[in-house]
Amino acid sequence: MNELITKAIQMMKKARAPYSNYSVGAAIKIDEKTIVGGCNIENASYPLSMCAERTALFSAIAQGHRQFISMAIATKTGGTPCGSCRQVIWELCGEIPIFICDENGIINETSSGALLPVPFDKNHLT
Ligand code: THU
Repeated sequence: MNELITKAIQMMKKARAPYSNYSVGAAIKIDEKTIVGGCNIENASYPLSMCAERTALFSAIAQGHRQFISMAIATKTGGTPCGSCRQVIWELCGEIPIFICDENGIINETSSGALLPVPFDKNHLT
């Protein structure tokens, strides 16, 4: 299994998900040597919770990274990213491969554009 997928699966174990019990791990590839991970972090005030994908991406941005190669997302059931995460992935990454995984590895290879057809983006603001 490649390093990106392994990292996403490992990140599932770091999830703080006492309310949903649905652990999500994400890993974003920056370059050949660098991967940044994220997990979902829930709060008793539910809407304040954060998804794994956005935790990973915001963490990478805060570390100074701006270019992203690909992303892996891991859950027990091979779940796909929510709409909010699709929007954020599209804006920060553009068109990149997305690997949807379960605990055993990739179950679906898709892309940020395929997950968010006809996206809203900054061009609409002008
Ligand atoms: N969740 C993610 O981390 N990523 C998604 O794309 C879908 C949902 C989290 C949020 C919450 O902690 C739990 O999964 C159940 O919705």
